[in-house]
Amino acid sequence: MIPGTRVNLRAVEAADYPLLARWLNDPEVMIHWGRPGTTLSLEEVERSERADAARSNSRKYIIETGDGIPIGQIDYYDLDWQNRSAWVSIMIGEPEYWSGGYGTDAMGALLGYLFLQLDLHRVALTAHESNVRAQRSYAKNGFVVEGTLRDWAYFDGRWVSGVLMGVLKDDFVRLAGTAG
Ligand SMILES: CC(C)(COP(=O)(O)OP(=O)(O)OC[C@H]1O[C@@H](n2cnc3c(N)ncnc32)[C@H](O)[C@@H]1OP(=O)(O)O)[C@@H](O)C(=O)NCCC(=O)NCCS
Repeated sequence: MIPGTRVNLRAVEAADYPLLARWLNDPEVMIHWGRPGTTLSLEEVERSERADAARSNSRKYIIETGDGIPIGQIDYYDLDWQNRSAWVSIMIGEPEYWSGGYGTDAMGALLGYLFLQLDLHRVALTAHESNVRAQRSYAKNGFVVEGTLRDWAYFDGRWVSGVLMGVLKDDFVRLAGTAG
């Protein structure tokens, strides 16, 4: 388990697949994370989760509150040992937990693991330009905007740009030190 302050990150178990399927089929969640209209059967989710779990350069965790309620998922992927970098993504699947600091705490816990246990140098992510809540949350862990990906995705009938954000180990460590 990777402990945070308000949440913990734990391994994904087979018993979590129905929950993951519910989040991935929820249009309210998918507007921010995937694509509205996504439909995935439990079997498809299981197959994809098992394939992802077999990869050595990625790992997904369940985000749990301190009292053990699973509220979302977070992962790193495309871990590159030579350049000591990785990509991350996060989804709080229970909307009542949005804007409550849980996502920021989960990302801080994962960054702490990636930088202080695996000694990575750089972590990056992308977000829809319109997802201001996500960008604010990422900035609180030291992510800065590194560029705009023009017309990054076709979404809800129009092209939307993406925001590329990255954080270096030194920035994260400095910020964590400041936060005490
Ligand atoms: C993105 C996400 C991980 C952020 O985690 P969170 O716990 O909700 O974030 P926090 O509460 O720590 O911080 C959100 C910040 O955005 C602000 N915010 C919330 N809604 C906002 C809005 N509509 N517009 C602008 N800012 C907003 C909050 O005030 C807060 O900033 P503050 O701490 O300076 O006041 C989470 O909301 C989530 O998973 N959302 C659904 C899926 C998603 O968007 N995933 C990311 C895809 S890139």
